[in-house]
Amino acid sequence: MDVVQFLMYMSLCTICALSKPTEKKERVHHDPELSNKVHDDAQNFEYDHDAFLGAEEAKTFDQLTPEESKERLGMIVGKIDADKDGFVTEGELKAWIKKAQKKYIFDNVARQWHEFDLNQDDIISWDEYRNVTYGTYLDDPDPDDGFNYKQMMMRDERRFKMADKDGNHVASKEEFTAFLHPEEFDYMKDIVVLETMEDIDKNGDGVIDLEEYIGDMYSHDGDSEEPEWVKTEREQFVEFRDKNRDGKMDKEETKDWILPSDYDHAEAEARHLVYESDQNKDGKLTREEIVDKYDLFVGSQATDFGEALVRHDEF
Ligand SMILES: *[C@@H]1O[C@H](CO)[C@@H](O)[C@H](O)[C@H]1NC(C)=O
Repeated sequence: MDVVQFLMYMSLCTICALSKPTEKKERVHHDPELSNKVHDDAQNFEYDHDAFLGAEEAKTFDQLTPEESKERLGMIVGKIDADKDGFVTEGELKAWIKKAQKKYIFDNVARQWHEFDLNQDDIISWDEYRNVTYGTYLDDPDPDDGFNYKQMMMRDERRFKMADKDGNHVASKEEFTAFLHPEEFDYMKDIVVLETMEDIDKNGDGVIDLEEYIGDMYSHDGDSEEPEWVKTEREQFVEFRDKNRDGKMDKEETKDWILPSDYDHAEAEARHLVYESDQNKDGKLTREEIVDKYDLFVGSQATDFGEALVRHDEF
């Protein structure tokens, strides 16, 4: 979290603190849905289009003729086939879907990129990030606004190093995205867990006890009796979070809590798309099999128009 995000977060917290603290803080990162459309292929393939392309990109295909749509889909197939063996496997399709779902995050980072890339060499060094983010603090190391910038900066630097996958001390676009959105990247999971634990572990003993766990989501603030949901959370901690029943949550237990291995939406969709388009049932897809089913994968405006014509003819 950079300073700006942090300040926004803090002001949100102030708003929360002023209102009655019945809303609990969300620490758990769930695997998000692939689309907000209903998945009912008997009605339409809009869910599949959003899943396969990402919601924004899916809209652009709605403007295309079937021919244009097929042509662009054919080019996409080349990118999905990561090992270039001429077949798209379920695994390759799943990786593609995950990437399509993250596209808005990469776009978001691309928009901020030039702000941090001071010398415009298309990589971001820790110095660049630090100077941009903590510039005023570095000039005046003793501001009296109550923030511990030194600690925030050390935390950012540690995360920056973790995001630096190839260890060359600078961030590529991909690495910088992992730095800003660590919960989206498998190799950043440990730092997400560590930072969350540090937030909650008030006495700094490296584990989360029951009171710290509750204290993170609920503050008494003069309530004489705890609300029902807080009591439920106490039970949750004892019954499920603290798996080895030693009264505290360690790293592994915290990880199981905040990064649950949910239902894998991308995997399910990849399996579905293969099943629906694998004509010769060999378990993998050729370019032809995919393009034949272009209405399932990407669609086009003219398909709907065509369907409308067909429907019209029936009258
Ligand atoms: C960051 O700021 C320091 C101190 O002002 C300066 O010496 C350094 O050159 C800056 N680095 C970059 C990459 O801008």
